[in-house]
Amino acid sequence: MKKLHGKPIIAGNWKMHKTNSEALELVQEIRNAAGELKETELVVIPPFPALSEVKKILQNSPVEVGAQNMYWEEEGAYTGEVSPPMLKDAGCTYVVIGHSERREYFGETNQTVNKKIKAALDHSLTPIVCIGETKKEREEEKTNQKIKTQLSEGFTNMTQEEIQQVIIAYEPIWAIGTGLTATPDQAQEVHHFIREQSKEAYGKEIGDYAIILYGGSVKPKNAYPLVKEPDINGALIGGASLKCESFIQIAKESIKAYKDKK
Ligand code: PGA
Repeated sequence: MKKLHGKPIIAGNWKMHKTNSEALELVQEIRNAAGELKETELVVIPPFPALSEVKKILQNSPVEVGAQNMYWEEEGAYTGEVSPPMLKDAGCTYVVIGHSERREYFGETNQTVNKKIKAALDHSLTPIVCIGETKKEREEEKTNQKIKTQLSEGFTNMTQEEIQQVIIAYEPIWAIGTGLTATPDQAQEVHHFIREQSKEAYGKEIGDYAIILYGGSVKPKNAYPLVKEPDINGALIGGASLKCESFIQIAKESIKAYKDKK
């Protein structure tokens, strides 16, 4: 697995969008545009049926492929599930774990998230673990408490070596797909809290180098101020990753922001 420092990670979660032919069209455009974007790590996260074909288009390109979910077992009678070796074989290097939509609609918990993180690491897939609070929790000033629980339960029984391979995505649920974005200050405050929690649990070095992405209505116009914040290391993008132009524009803004970082 790669260790990434010094460049932002820009990951596009396509969710349940794009048929295979639409996926191939989009990824071809991204591939063509990615040549000038060496100062970022670009990741596309298509639906399962498109993974292998997307990977073929991306051969010999710096753009990485991730999956939106997986099960923790290697194989077996688990109808409808996809295993880590299947994702590896399809060419994935990343996998999103515990997205709030999976938690809300598909019953995922911090405990299943923990099993999936471990399974991903056992198969050299980099997990992008999503955490974040609801609108109600924010209004009741329970954001930090929620984050703390998601981190401690989701990362339970993990070694320092394992923790270092995990990417965290802070995605306030009230900002996902709503057009409402956390302000750079709001996002930075939580990112800083996550980093401090990580230092407390695993030591200063691991905390300092933790990769923490922001997600929730990231668009070309708000990417720069968000990624410029000291504790924000890139973005997990939903809606704006479905078009090459906005995805690439966010990557460009993030590269600028990294250079101008506070
Ligand atoms: P959004 O989705 O950019 O459409 O808000 C973000 C996400 O769910 O990862």
